[in-house]
Amino acid sequence: MDAILAKKPLKWAELGFQYIKADFRYSAVFQKGNWLPGNLISEENLNIHEGAPSLHYAQQCFEGMKAQTTQDGRVVLFRPTLNSERMNRTASRLLMPEVPQDLFIKAVEEAVRANYAWIPPHGSGAALYVRPMLIGVGENLGLKPAQAFEFRVFVSPVGPYYKSSGLAAISLAVSEFDRAAPQGTGSYKAGANYAGGLLATLKAQELGASEALYLDSASHRFIDEAGSANIVILLKSGELITPSSNAILPSITRRSVLEIAAEQFGIKTEERAIDLRIEFDSFAEMSACGTAAVLSPVGRVYFDSEWHIVNGDGYSVGPVMQKLYDSLIQLQRGEVEDKFGWLHEVEI
Ligand code: PLP
Ligand code: COI
Repeated sequence: MDAILAKKPLKWAELGFQYIKADFRYSAVFQKGNWLPGNLISEENLNIHEGAPSLHYAQQCFEGMKAQTTQDGRVVLFRPTLNSERMNRTASRLLMPEVPQDLFIKAVEEAVRANYAWIPPHGSGAALYVRPMLIGVGENLGLKPAQAFEFRVFVSPVGPYYKSSGLAAISLAVSEFDRAAPQGTGSYKAGANYAGGLLATLKAQELGASEALYLDSASHRFIDEAGSANIVILLKSGELITPSSNAILPSITRRSVLEIAAEQFGIKTEERAIDLRIEFDSFAEMSACGTAAVLSPVGRVYFDSEWHIVNGDGYSVGPVMQKLYDSLIQLQRGEVEDKFGWLHEVEI
């Protein structure tokens, strides 16, 4: 479908992270061992069986990425093949069929292209969030995999994920609940991981925090991740560290930030276990990172019944996170040369 080129009259700079109904979404169905030809549809509601395993047993997963308008008017995605690989890793874990990478990319491209009018303009600070999802549909009652699946990609223009706009520091509160067991599904993008986190997020917000921070569920000592983002920490020694854990989502943003830090700024990086209480005083800067979160500096962390300031005043943004953030978003918005080859252009 050709893109409709006139933009929607939205206040792009004022958008938060909310669903806004765009005109089209892509849908493909897997039945009897095969993917049937998919297509763009305008209906946003799904019509699925009341016994569908995605509804009862959470046999479903999703992905998240952003499409951005570059300075010269192109539309680009950021490393979408990594989202495709991650969705297939999750699908296999949940006994769902893999979505072939060419179908995944075609669906994302078609959904973005058809909704060109909803892609925020360059410089607005907003982006088009792309949400691919794979769900078990069809009639079922016992605990067994679905017989049929729907792969759907919808989009929504979004602004910043956290309420503090721009690059202002957020705060995290250590959760009393565990997010994921060591050999559980924490490293997969399964919706079930998030349902259990809703109460943790609410409790964190009641404490005045932006979001929950999870420690490893075996010892409650080591940092795992935040509810919707991974964690990166700059030590006072100048090293950039991030938790090694098999219970966290392997974030594409984190991987990219670490590569930018090492390659562009010569910062030493390490993925290792991080003992929150023992190491906190050696933190110089801390951030939450993810597609929605981008790179959000963390100013304060609540644990052991009190707030702890991450260096500084607890509100401002440290110089290293600032330069990593700038480099990341300039790259994602096509404002600098794509030295890493991470941008994927969507022909409009
Ligand atoms: N961790 C969790 C729990 C997430 O939901 C996300 C978001 O996708 C991330 C980390 C960040 O991953 P990515 O950078 O690939 O978006
Ligand atoms: C993303 O960053 O894409 C996510 O999926 C996180 C989600 C909780 C909004």
